[in-house]
Amino acid sequence: DKGNHRHFMEKEIHEQPEVIGHTLAHYLDFVEGRTRDIPLPFDFSQIDRLSISACGTAFLAGSVARYWFERYARLPVDIDVGSEFRYREMPISPNSAALFISQSGETADTLASLRYCRSQGVPIAAVVNVPESTIARESDAIFPTLAGPEIGVASTKAFTCQLAVLAALAVRAGVQRGHVSPEQERELVRFLSEAPRFATAALKLDDQIEKLARELSQVKHALYLGRGTSFPLAMEGALKLKEISYIHAEGYAAGELKHGPIALIDENMPVIVIAPHDRNFDKTVSNMQEVAARGGRIILITDTEGARRATINAMETIILPDVPEIIAPIVYALPIQMLAYFTAVFMGTDVDQPRNLAKSVTVE
Ligand code: F6R
Repeated sequence: DKGNHRHFMEKEIHEQPEVIGHTLAHYLDFVEGRTRDIPLPFDFSQIDRLSISACGTAFLAGSVARYWFERYARLPVDIDVGSEFRYREMPISPNSAALFISQSGETADTLASLRYCRSQGVPIAAVVNVPESTIARESDAIFPTLAGPEIGVASTKAFTCQLAVLAALAVRAGVQRGHVSPEQERELVRFLSEAPRFATAALKLDDQIEKLARELSQVKHALYLGRGTSFPLAMEGALKLKEISYIHAEGYAAGELKHGPIALIDENMPVIVIAPHDRNFDKTVSNMQEVAARGGRIILITDTEGARRATINAMETIILPDVPEIIAPIVYALPIQMLAYFTAVFMGTDVDQPRNLAKSVTVE
């Protein structure tokens, strides 16, 4: 039932504040300001590497999580798409653990990666939205996302709930590995607890994003740029746009711009820049200036502080509230979903069931 929404995707975008809160509460004790003692098939302090495998949007959630595990837990992460991971025959050290991320829990390449790790004797955990799925059954432990059923083929609420679980796990890993003090844990848990409120604020930008989407629906190509955790988000923005609007889009690490894609920039190339005012901000702004100097049209997704500092002519800005760094990927996911959604609506595509795609990819 779509309720009063035009599409399941729209409904699922709007459910995010609630399901993110619900998911976080499963992993975090907001009252005590602690990560919960969830059963793990391994102790984060006993491993020296975490291998992550997933496909599509789930892979991009894992790619954000790599930054979190490395930053908060000083735990090296190896991540690959399922279709590569399964055939890499990666040498696996005895002190590693494997993590799989899948909304459906049935994705063939992710499952094959899991079975490879099983054959290597590594402890296995999975972030899944369907607890009765094959990947859930074959894992030593599951970390559920409590997103509820996701009907739209393009993943939205499952993605942000995956991020919520992974952020909570990264903080937990930091605690277990002695890199997050009790005070830091309390602060990070409080920051995470604010994610639903900021997600609600992001949803209120819908009128402005719809207007920008009308323009975006006129173009043939678009580029998304970001640094740090905003790099996988740029890839997610591009994936969302291409799969539902059929506009060709690419996500790049902002620093890679001058290594090739800058050749594409002219007045017909919109560049969507994801840049909260964080440690990477100034670097991303200089990449943006390179785009502006070549006539590229910029849509900057930032916060109030970022908007104040980045003054470039002829730029559109989507301004979110200033949010703590750890929740930025969760909050920034919403405007990029909305931008893709409204663009697809203007294009008149089948938003919930885009051509050539299936919700669950059970063949390789
Ligand atoms: C994109 C999308 C796909 C899935 C991918 C993995 O919006 O939905 O890229 O993320 O097929 O699916 P799961 O998470 O079910 O393994």
